[in-house]
Amino acid sequence: MDIGIAGKIEEQLTKHGVAHVRFDKVTPDPTYSQAELGLDLYQREGCDGILAVGGGSPIDCAKVIAARVTNNKPIKRLAGLLRVWRTPAPLFAIPTTAGTGSEVTVAAVVSDPVDHKKTPLMDPKLVPLMAALDPSLMTELPPHITAATGMDALTHAVEAYLSLNATTETDAYAIAAMKLIHENLISAYKDGKSLKVRLNMAMASYYAGLAFTKASLGYAHAIAHNLGAKYGTPHGIANSLALPHVLSASVPSAKAKMAKLAMIVGVGDEQWDDVTNAQAFVDYVVSLQDAMSLPKTMAEIQQMDVPDIAKRAVREARWNYPVPHYLSLRECEQLIEKIKA
Ligand SMILES: [Fe+2]
Repeated sequence: MDIGIAGKIEEQLTKHGVAHVRFDKVTPDPTYSQAELGLDLYQREGCDGILAVGGGSPIDCAKVIAARVTNNKPIKRLAGLLRVWRTPAPLFAIPTTAGTGSEVTVAAVVSDPVDHKKTPLMDPKLVPLMAALDPSLMTELPPHITAATGMDALTHAVEAYLSLNATTETDAYAIAAMKLIHENLISAYKDGKSLKVRLNMAMASYYAGLAFTKASLGYAHAIAHNLGAKYGTPHGIANSLALPHVLSASVPSAKAKMAKLAMIVGVGDEQWDDVTNAQAFVDYVVSLQDAMSLPKTMAEIQQMDVPDIAKRAVREARWNYPVPHYLSLRECEQLIEKIKA
């Protein structure tokens, strides 16, 4: 009988005398109410810590539950920057996808299902105390999830590298992530059984998380969060859709760094100028989409929704992301229309 990943971990907890209770009410894009349900269970059972197992959604939800255990105020008032005043309940993470890097980041994203807004909580206190990366938990991930989560990790690395907050340290993590993704993502997509390839992707996601938790993100995430909030688009798919267009729009302001990315993944040429190399990197991202049969456009986007999605994305970027060039509302609308086409 297949007892699943959670069952196997529970067996180990029991074997080692650790009392536990399972909370499995978290869906993709977790909501405020799911986190409050988890808090109820935590308090009712007299828990003294949380072990989050899964992709970004369960780990993010666990971060919010841990914060709520010690901070008696509505989640809305914990959202934003540095608003988790008291140290959360002890939190540990075992990621089962290689993408979000949530096991190492300061961020947790939860949704308000009423106004369709995704609300990030950002505070260093939300970083789990420890994380275990075990590739044997990732070998059963289906190819389309491997592709989408891998593109999320790629977007973290790229946006952190292009951020104005990037440092020598975050660049080193972003480059390490880029190299691992370049060398392993397609293999993980085609044959996910290799432990070596899965571990390399888990490390890539971890390094990309270390890069963006300090250097921050950019417009691909601003647009992806708002596509996700409006249409429920999986986060990795939304990032994959947005990234080539965001990168094309970034060439004038970030060509030198984009040219370096082209060299890192072996599609650049030192004889070329920065703009040509930067464009080669955009083409490389598109080639990853092709190799993993990822969508290039999104038919669900309604023309009447474009101004609102753009307005929210522009606002999210302005308040949160130190990008090389801030888009005007019209530029952002045009970019979203390219994803829609
Ligand atoms: Fe992401």
